[in-house]
Amino acid sequence: MSFYDLAERRYSERYFDPQPVEQKKIDRILAAGRLAPTACNLQPQRIYVLQSEEALNKARGMRVSHFNAPLLMLVCYDAETAWRNPGDRWYENYCSGEQDASIVAATMMYEAEELGVHSVWLRGFDSAEVADVFALPASHIPVMMFAMGYPSAVSKPGPWHSQRKPLEETVIVL
Ligand SMILES: Cc1cc2nc3c(=O)[nH]c(=O)nc-3n(C[C@H](O)[C@H](O)[C@H](O)COP(=O)(O)O)c2cc1C
Repeated sequence: MSFYDLAERRYSERYFDPQPVEQKKIDRILAAGRLAPTACNLQPQRIYVLQSEEALNKARGMRVSHFNAPLLMLVCYDAETAWRNPGDRWYENYCSGEQDASIVAATMMYEAEELGVHSVWLRGFDSAEVADVFALPASHIPVMMFAMGYPSAVSKPGPWHSQRKPLEETVIVL
């Protein structure tokens, strides 16, 4: 399957089957994320795999829509490791951590899709609550969370999935 076809097939999954994701696939998803580019190759991503019942229950107790996924991954960056640009006049001491973590997460998302593991990218959470619940080190900054798993019999794309803006609206050719 071409990358374009994979990208076209993917949608945000919100109806997961309870069947767990095989460890081999989890390992492969994480390995793909490892291949993503990061600023100066500093690899500041820190990925928490919430797989145990204890970790999943903690996450399910938070104010985050987890869609009863059998697997959650919290993608953070380490603020002490991420590249900083002290020369940016718009952002004082600009930190690339969000970008680094995001491209790692996107790479993981498409690897998961290729393996038949569906996902939804989640940002509707309170970073302080996440940091507190999982006792994150102060330098681990939560960026996003994945709910992951297999689709269920009622799985379908959400209404926003088909609403892509025309390229003329989002691409500026100079
Ligand atoms: C930065 C970001 C944050 C998102 N946060 C949430 C979220 O908190 N809850 C949710 O259900 N979906 C969330 N989504 C998924 C988007 O709603 C979804 O990707 C978009 O509506 C397009 O639908 P599609 O992924 O099915 O193509 C998020 C996506 C991104 C990229």
